[in-house]
Amino acid sequence: MNIREFLSEKVQAAMSAAGVPPDCGAMVAPAKKAGFGDYQANGAMGAAKKMGMNPRELASKIVEQLQLDGIAEKIDIAGPGFINIHLAPTWLGEQTGNAERDPALAIRPAAKAQTIVVDYSSPNLAKEMHVGHLRSTIIGDALVRILERLGHTVIRQNHVGDWGTQFGMLIAELEEKLAEHESAGMALADLEVFYQQAKAHFDADEAFADKAREYVVKLQSGDTEVLKLWEQFKQVSLEHSAEIYQKLNVTLSEADVRGESFYNDDLAPIVKELKEQGRCSEDQGAQVAFLQELADKEGKPSPVIVQKKGGGFLYATTDLAALRYRANTLNADRILYFIDARQSLHMQQVFTLARLAGFVGDSVSLEHHAFGTMMGADGKPFKTRSGGTVKLSALLDEAVERARAVITEKNPELEGAEEVARKVGIGSVKYADLSKTRTNDYVFNWDTMLSFEGNTAPYLQYAYTRVQSLFRKAGVDPESISAPVVIGEEQEKALAIKLLQFGEVLSQVAEDALPHVLCTYLYDVASLYMRFYEACPILKSDVSPELRDSRLRLCHLVARTLATGLDMLGIEVSEQM
Ligand code: ARG
Repeated sequence: MNIREFLSEKVQAAMSAAGVPPDCGAMVAPAKKAGFGDYQANGAMGAAKKMGMNPRELASKIVEQLQLDGIAEKIDIAGPGFINIHLAPTWLGEQTGNAERDPALAIRPAAKAQTIVVDYSSPNLAKEMHVGHLRSTIIGDALVRILERLGHTVIRQNHVGDWGTQFGMLIAELEEKLAEHESAGMALADLEVFYQQAKAHFDADEAFADKAREYVVKLQSGDTEVLKLWEQFKQVSLEHSAEIYQKLNVTLSEADVRGESFYNDDLAPIVKELKEQGRCSEDQGAQVAFLQELADKEGKPSPVIVQKKGGGFLYATTDLAALRYRANTLNADRILYFIDARQSLHMQQVFTLARLAGFVGDSVSLEHHAFGTMMGADGKPFKTRSGGTVKLSALLDEAVERARAVITEKNPELEGAEEVARKVGIGSVKYADLSKTRTNDYVFNWDTMLSFEGNTAPYLQYAYTRVQSLFRKAGVDPESISAPVVIGEEQEKALAIKLLQFGEVLSQVAEDALPHVLCTYLYDVASLYMRFYEACPILKSDVSPELRDSRLRLCHLVARTLATGLDMLGIEVSEQM
């Protein structure tokens, strides 16, 4: 149990002993300002209003009942009835010591383990992954790691775009190219170029265009030859993605791919059922569901096309089938989507329609966690100098190269500089993204993300390395220290409390799917560590062995918290840098 939950229970018990009705919450949270205790319970005001009492009077009644002997050193009441709890250093020392010794860092699994489906990355296989896929891939992967850490069963779903009319053109092109190349891998070495050639071919050559259209029909009716070409195309494209995932240190594997094609056989039944339920009707030859639930200001319902005029199905139809599969076959309690904010209306539409049609039960939580766009210095969506899309693999290579230059300048003698550059370069790109509020656009900037100062990956990675070098300097294995953790100085107390909040922060991130909250937390840990390090000598000769060991254990918890927290974000640390 984390401090917040622990104190909430205690305050709740005191409230009920003071005669407060059970539906009034304790409202315990870390104190926002110094001097107002370490935690605050703000529930007295609301309860007093409900009970028609003076809030300060009720607060003091609650405090009288509050059993925090040995846990709080002082409890006082401020303003209209805020209860400020000052935690006892002895208790904090014990808790910190326990966390430092615990392989799980005192992070407790969620009270109720859930099955959580996470839809992320999900590129279209027709093209190479570009910067537009970066955000979904790394934000989704951070959430997946955190949810698993909290004991949930996570099912990753890489909903790749592997179906649709453009595949007719692509496989017709592949068939021709295979005559000149040894393998599909060679023919598709550059997917971007391949796509452009296929498109140009399609636009210029009538016979080729006819063949492409014929291949779409053949693909959909399961023609073996055409399916074989399609499989080859898919395989090569997925290998391109797998390479990126590996570079990015993202946990997606081939087993997590469940592309649009997987739902092919479900699409006609989905539309049939919607029709039978009277949820869609014919409109200019197409089947359309009109959602009054999402009507605009004039009361005009929101149209969702589920089948096109010629009988073809759409992106929305596939998403309806995927929702039904995830809710009923995968038995999800929560389904999380990490997709660009530009698809918000689409997601709202499929969520609403899936619920109305009973494809998804009421108890299943459907969540679109939208994100903003990555911008260039010019304030427009990030592009190459000539205005093209930036390939993700090129961007990541550049990150590592730039990191190498920064590191060589700082420490030309560093052993294993290649590996450190890789961790710093990739870490910087990821952290720069993850540390921004997810819903906002942000400007991509090499210099700030690679800086060793400020809220950046290198700053945190370096903070970790500094703690590790302290142990090397001391010649101690932190695991072997047996002295208790003693909290004396104000900087030690602030650091200890922060460290003990790790579990609270992870639960919050798991709920809101906002990784920047974890980034801010880790930055706070590193900053409080620097303050502690300056104020509290560790290896100086006049420090007693007990105090030195106590402080080393605090340092050890700092290092492990930073490494674990960064790992939750998919960022690696180095022992030296
Ligand atoms: N392939 C889509 C794209 O690149 C993203 C798919 C997101 N997931 C989903 N279930 N719609 O835009």
